[in-house]
Formats: sequence, C-alpha cells, structure tokens
Amino acid sequence: MNSYKIAVIEGDGIGHEVVPEGIRVLEAAARRFDLSFSWQHFDWSCQTYLSTGRMMPEDGLEQLRRFDAIYLGAVGYPGVPDHISLWGLLIPIRRAFRQYVNLRPIRLLEGIKSPLSERKPGEIDFCIVRENNEGEYSEIGGRLHRNTDMEMAIQETVFTARGCDRVVTYAFELARRRRDHVTSATKSNGIVFTMPFWDERFAAVSKNYPDVKADQYHIDILSAHFVSHPDRFDVVVASNLFGDILSDLGAAVVGSMGLAPSANLNPDREFPSMFEPVHGSAPDIAGKGIANPVAQIWSGAMMLEHLGEKAAAQAVEQAIFNVIAGLDPLTPDIGGNASTKDMGEAIAAEVAAVTARI
Ligand code: NAI
Ligand code: MG
Repeated sequence: MNSYKIAVIEGDGIGHEVVPEGIRVLEAAARRFDLSFSWQHFDWSCQTYLSTGRMMPEDGLEQLRRFDAIYLGAVGYPGVPDHISLWGLLIPIRRAFRQYVNLRPIRLLEGIKSPLSERKPGEIDFCIVRENNEGEYSEIGGRLHRNTDMEMAIQETVFTARGCDRVVTYAFELARRRRDHVTSATKSNGIVFTMPFWDERFAAVSKNYPDVKADQYHIDILSAHFVSHPDRFDVVVASNLFGDILSDLGAAVVGSMGLAPSANLNPDREFPSMFEPVHGSAPDIAGKGIANPVAQIWSGAMMLEHLGEKAAAQAVEQAIFNVIAGLDPLTPDIGGNASTKDMGEAIAAEVAAVTARI
C-alpha cells in the first residue's frame, strides 16, 4: 500500500471550511485505491501571526520539507496586511521549495452556467502555467523619504533565463500531452526590458518543440480574448503577475472562484509541491458554511496526480464533474443552496460510486 505524509495548512477564513472537505474526498479515494494518507495539521495563519508575530515558526520550512506534499487552504485575513500574510507563509514556501510552476486548469463543466452565455462545456478547457518564483513578485526594491512629500517606492522585476526557460519548457511539455498549442502572455510593447527578454526566451524554447503551435499576445488583448475567444487556448504561459491575474479571470469565465484548483509544482521533485485553490480566504463568506469546496477538492486530485496516483486522481475529478452535472447538491456561488459539507459529502460518496463502476 502506498502511503503519503501530507502537511495540512488550513490557513484562514474559508480554508477552515474547504480543507476538511478536501480531506474527506481524498480519504474516500484512499479507501478505494488502496492508499493511505497521514495528515499533519499546522495551524499557521493570520491568527498565529497575531499571537506570535510570525505566520509560521522560524524553522517552518524545515518542518515542511520532510512531507510528500503540502495541502493548503488560503492565507490572509482582515487585521493582518496581505503582504505580511502572503510573504510570511505562501511565497516563502513556493520559493524555498522551487515550486516554479503554478498550474491552473480552467475548464467549463457540464452543469455550470458560464457568464459567457453562449459557451458550452468542452469549449473552454485550457491550463494557465504561471511562473511562480520570480518576475514581478520580487523582494528587490524599497521605500525612501518616508512621510515626506518626496516619499517614493521602487519595486524591481526580475526575469532570469533559467527561470523563464524552465517554466516555458514545462508549458510546452504539458501542451504535448494536451492539444499541442502554447500561448505566451507578454507586454513587450510597453515593458521594454523584461518582456522582450521573456519573448526571446519563449521563442528560443519553442524551437525545441516544432510540433507544438506557439503564439503570443499582449496581456491586454489576451485578457479580452479570455472573454471573447476562450476556445482558442490550450496552454497559456505567463509571468507571475500576469498569470495571477489571468487565473482569477479564467475562474470567473468558467463560473466561480470556487471551482478553480491549482498546483504549485516542483517538477524536479527536489522538494514537496503544494496544492491549493486559486481563491483566497474569502472573508466575506467565511464562517457561513457556504464556500464551494470544489477548488480545494480538485487541488487534491492534482496532488494525487503528482504523487503518481493517476487512477485515484481521475476518480476524484470524475466525482466532481458528476456531482456538478447532476446539479445537486450545489453551493450558492454556482446556483444551489447546499452547504460546503453537503457538497463535500456528495463528492466523497460519488468517488465510491464512480470506482464501483470501474
Ligand atoms: P478571494 O478569492 O478570497 O475572494 C474573492 C471573491 O470570491 C469573494 O467574493 C469570495 O466570497 C469569492 N470566493 C472565493 N472562494 C470561494 C469559494 N470557494 N466559494 C464561493 N465563493 C468564493 O479573494 P480576495 O477577497 O481578494 O482575498 C481575500 C484574502 O485572501 C486576502 O487576504 C488575500 O490576500 C487572500 N488571498 C490568498 C490567496 C492564497 O492563499 N493563495 C490567494 C488570493 C487571495
Ligand atoms: Mg491570485
């Protein structure tokens, strides 16, 4: 029996509501596929920050290193500035463990009404590959002349050849397993140093993949195409900031923030990878028990896939798709009135039903 040690960080807000449903469904899959999980919970969060002054202990990364994967809800909550919560936990994990790919599938599911009313399931099915270690989210910069009328802030953007090449290569490899098409998000007309460099690296890597169609759009029109022509895309590769923005747009286009999963991958498997929804801690609905658990559960399927448990991953995905296609139970964000727990339980039960039919 394969067994996996998973570090669980529920984090803040709806993290406390959706993570337990993710674990419920993964446990259901484990029972069916002869695997086992040992879950170790870490209460690292804004609450921890308020009582200890740190989002995680000084040796937090050291503690996480020995796990097979990290399963995270979301961090950030009113009362703690967002740059403190994200830079105190999430971003250090992504960087220290060289999770340089942030993989974010965008798929319109049967049963979901897209705000793009003409679009049907099958017409929107692409992946965003977001650079996750450098780019616009850098620690290089500073503030000067604080509290004077000359106050200023500078933030440097960092693109390295190695950083660009590895994420672009991942995108092309992924496209070969999908529909052989990679689109690059650029802005080399306005950003004159880093973005032309990104374009050069994209062109250089694309030469290794003559069988894969490569094209690029500036980020402004690319965003418009996500709405007007989402069927054009297969794999979209983007820098850290552009990928972040495109992910929320993609989630909206396929119906809800509560449906968008993501994987922070260390493709070289030197360190644990981390699986978390695209969405944040949703303080506006936290504590009400109505958050959609699908993004969290689907991120769990991506974790199974990364761990090599392909059949179990597919069963979890299929269970999600079946419950949504059956239109019952659904959480309010996708048109129902079920609770987080109702939906988690239904998907867990469906995992058993799906596997019984195999
Ligand atoms: P958010 O994604 O938490 O919420 C945006 C909107 O989507 C809200 O109206 C929320 O109710 C809705 N929503 C999100 N997830 C949902 C779900 N599962 N089911 C139903 N509705 C859902 O983004 P926001 O409001 O910008 O950020 C809130 C906090 O989360 C901030 O502190 C932010 O820094 C943090 N955050 C953390 C992330 C992470 O841990 N990876 C990612 C994004 C934001
Ligand atoms: Mg984001």
